[in-house]
Amino acid sequence: MYRLIFWAFAAYATIAFVSLQFVSAPYGRHLREGWGPKINATLGWVIMEAPASLVFFACWLTGEPTRRFSATGLIFQVLWQTHYVYRSFVFPFRRRGGQREMPISIVLMAILFNLANAYLNASWLYTLGPERAATWLADPCFLAGITIFAAGWWINQQSDQILFNLRKPGTEGGYRIPHGGLFRWVSCPNYFGELVEWFGWALCTFSPAGLAFALASAANLVPRARSHHRWYRETFPDYPPERKAIVPLVL
Ligand SMILES: NC(=O)c1ccc[n+]([C@@H]2O[C@H](COP(=O)([O-])OP(=O)(O)OC[C@H]3O[C@@H](n4cnc5c(N)ncnc54)[C@H](OP(=O)(O)O)[C@@H]3O)[C@@H](O)[C@H]2O)c1
Repeated sequence: MYRLIFWAFAAYATIAFVSLQFVSAPYGRHLREGWGPKINATLGWVIMEAPASLVFFACWLTGEPTRRFSATGLIFQVLWQTHYVYRSFVFPFRRRGGQREMPISIVLMAILFNLANAYLNASWLYTLGPERAATWLADPCFLAGITIFAAGWWINQQSDQILFNLRKPGTEGGYRIPHGGLFRWVSCPNYFGELVEWFGWALCTFSPAGLAFALASAANLVPRARSHHRWYRETFPDYPPERKAIVPLVL
């Protein structure tokens, strides 16, 4: 079953990457008609991201006891939940811009992605993959990975905060040119931070599931960053010309 879900996940990411070259996922500034019924976007974010946190926790609960309570097992849990508890239960309520909506079809696709991803990562760490002893915590792979993860998390948080500050609490949506932090270099540093985070995760867990997740995130976020970047350039004639879409100085 694990292999089947792994390859289904890889196929899903590949299809998403190809399709997103032609259509942008219809939420946020790219929301448009023709994608079926919609729900409140705050609720949508909670429903679609919560499975990532809950399934990872459930796989930990049902994993091998020696792995669950090992130092590495607990650290992996903390890293994952630091991201996903925030993304599921805090981020949706910090967004500003009034009561926006998102298509239920997007919510359903994201739920599938998160269910598979959390299962693949957690069952590899807590049941199926090689057991990581405490000595792993001194391994250069782990140390480099956790440092990269922390840097990505910080960039993601800082960029989200800059975006939230563009709108006053209680006001309706509307977009402005963001400045500060890594916005100096790219249009979507929040996406860049997220990618850095998950490549750091792949390294510090040294797992095929971690790598698959990082690549699947890139499959989603690189095309979306390019759509945002195009949109900024078309919308604001004074948009800083030196900014790239997602990777400073490169892309
Ligand atoms: N791992 C993955 O595969 C994956 C996939 C998708 C998202 N994510 C993560 O989820 C988070 C949110 O994603 P997102 O696609 O919603 O990001 P986004 O398009 O950058 O929007 C983030 C928030 O900032 C607001 N915003 C963005 N640009 C703005 C501007 N120029 N002026 C005023 N407000 C602005 C948005 O409002 P509106 O909603 O009104 O546009 C939204 O509330 C990101 O951190 C991303 O990395 C991860």
